[in-house]
Amino acid sequence: MTEKELFNLLNDMSFKEKIGQLNQLAGSFFSTKERNIVTGPLAKDGLLSKNKYLTGSVLGIKGAEDLIKIQKDFIENHPHKIPMLFMADVINGFETIFPVPLAQSCSFNPDLIKKAARITAIESAVSGLHVTFSPMVDLVRDARWGRVMESTGEDTYLNSIYAKAMVEGYQGGELKDEGSIAACVKHFAGYGAPTAGREYNNVELSTRTLYEDYMPAYKAAIDSDCAMVMTSFNTIDRVPVTANKDLLRTYLRKTLNFSGVVISDWQAIEELIYHTIAQDGKEAAELAIQSGVDIDMMSGLYLENLETLLEKNLITMDLIDESVMNILQLKNRLGLFENPFKDANILKEKEIVFCKEHNDLAKELTIKSIVLLKNEKNILPIIDKSKNIALIGPYIDSKETHGAWSIFADKNTNISILEGFKNLNPENDYEYSKGCEILDKDVALKGFEGEIEINKNDPNNLCNAVKLAEKSDIVIMAIGEHRLQSGEAASRVHITVPKIQEELFNEIYKVNKNIIVILFNGRPLELENINSKAKSILEVWLPGTQGGNAIANIVFGKESPSGKLTMSFPRSVGQCPIFYNEFSTGRPHVPNKDKDRFRSKYIDSSNSPLFPFGYGLTYSTCKLGDISIDKDTISLFDQLTSKITIKNIGNFKIEETVQLYIKDCSGSVVRPGRELKGFKKVYIEPGEEAIVEFIVKEDMLRFIRHDNTFGSESGWFVIYIGLNSVETKEIRFYLSK
Ligand code: BGC
Repeated sequence: MTEKELFNLLNDMSFKEKIGQLNQLAGSFFSTKERNIVTGPLAKDGLLSKNKYLTGSVLGIKGAEDLIKIQKDFIENHPHKIPMLFMADVINGFETIFPVPLAQSCSFNPDLIKKAARITAIESAVSGLHVTFSPMVDLVRDARWGRVMESTGEDTYLNSIYAKAMVEGYQGGELKDEGSIAACVKHFAGYGAPTAGREYNNVELSTRTLYEDYMPAYKAAIDSDCAMVMTSFNTIDRVPVTANKDLLRTYLRKTLNFSGVVISDWQAIEELIYHTIAQDGKEAAELAIQSGVDIDMMSGLYLENLETLLEKNLITMDLIDESVMNILQLKNRLGLFENPFKDANILKEKEIVFCKEHNDLAKELTIKSIVLLKNEKNILPIIDKSKNIALIGPYIDSKETHGAWSIFADKNTNISILEGFKNLNPENDYEYSKGCEILDKDVALKGFEGEIEINKNDPNNLCNAVKLAEKSDIVIMAIGEHRLQSGEAASRVHITVPKIQEELFNEIYKVNKNIIVILFNGRPLELENINSKAKSILEVWLPGTQGGNAIANIVFGKESPSGKLTMSFPRSVGQCPIFYNEFSTGRPHVPNKDKDRFRSKYIDSSNSPLFPFGYGLTYSTCKLGDISIDKDTISLFDQLTSKITIKNIGNFKIEETVQLYIKDCSGSVVRPGRELKGFKKVYIEPGEEAIVEFIVKEDMLRFIRHDNTFGSESGWFVIYIGLNSVETKEIRFYLSK
């Protein structure tokens, strides 16, 4: 449609039709399918079902056959035949499930992540979807929060790169194109910093921290033409974002120039009442629409109240028209007026969804997401075929290996470790003993599909596992969090491997010291005990469909691990929030000064994380040379070139990620200890070396200065280059003005 035709349509719509566009319902109102996904509380069924045929969009259903039927029926009943938008949380894959986003981010490979997003879009589109509620670009620093699993970690620069990659992957060239879906960046803004890591808790961030650390990733998504923005549940400056005019109207619409659709999170408009800023539903609806929220997801308060608000002149028709127009424009960008079914195609869906090509990419990304945390005496990879290997632990034969947000996954298609090992080494007969269940029966967890079943823990399991460990050369133990222990509404104060599994680990350790731990989890965990005993720890996160195959490739040395952590692993939960780019203090802790009491430190733990940001081993060892720079002073708009040599002095061909950090030694406000400013991949054969070059430009040194302007300040800077954020080479340069 032309812009003019869209305006004509808008002018011809009744008030009720307009309000309908602003309303989003769960798929359960339309589909009779048993497996409907409801990702939040359901209320007001009566009101919502009555208005079903005026709805603008639906969330949480999929499937070409179903969605074509629903759309056809809907259009026939809609006065202006305006098609609905079908949206869903397709977070780390549709049916081909990739590792959870936190794992993906450890690949330091935005190209691969973009390809994964493209595959997700292709599968979603052919199954009838138009919009995904992704990417989630919330910066995270506190592993207690369950949703760290959905994020790409603690670094602003990296989050921004990934935000762009994912939006470009989902949206392709034009939203109308085959295989493209609209992206919805979330949760705007600051949702990743709930106080004490407790889900849905309020957020207290200084304005400078919000805009300098948290905002850039949302901005990167919007600069990449992201079609939608979802508001977050939390407050910013004590105002819930869903009613925060400063953030939505001024910053988002004006400063960031966002012209797409703003949607509330699930029932967030109603939650303005419980946040104690609206006295009732009417006021909540008024605050949200005034703040610029176009779509009300599942609270029904726009349906219920906008008419009265208009009659009482509390809102204007222009305000409503503006929101309706945003939605019509998105439908138009997707080409729905010409083809309301877009790519939905029953035959192609069978061919494309979960095809081999998609699985191959999933395997590749999974391999790149795996992080080797420890590898004493090179116990990994296992090359020697004569070794007697015991496979122990509840994750060896488990298919519960997809993240909590893989809502359309068919877990039966997940490749377990046992299957992966047999696929790679069909001639081997592995001895396996479960040892225990993932959780003990006193833990109750609920996912989007309902309550999970916890099998009864049989004490014989433990005995059998110990017997097996006793007679084996090496024990591979696959243990970790249950997949529903991370994700939405999964905050934890004990970020540990479930007790029953840690007990199993301790018992096995008593009889066999050659333990390789394969760790499943959605968040950094406290690993002091496991780390002090296991010979090796392979962090595989929640790896998705191809988990077992990818793990087998790494364990048996077909490839070296190459992932690097994007969230620091604390030694103890008491250190949270913990992140690499923290500020110094007036009394900084100096290593080896532990006896010096009056320092910024703990008296019962080191300040440092157990595993820092950017950390991850390979099967080889590299030696870095010294950094050289072509000049030691630069001026405004100027740049310098830094170089470093990296030599593979081990025996394995590897992929390494060389990381560039910069520190500003004296700013008008305090500056982080170091900040990631670039990274490069190198692929080096044993004995060979590579020269890595980083250009350092003046614009990389800019920040929000004390007077709130954005720019650099003259003075000394330090360049750090290394293979993680801590062990680095360094050199200084001067920025003159
Ligand atoms: C989550 C969002 C999600 C929405 C729709 C909410 O509970 O916070 O991230 O997109 O539900 O499922």
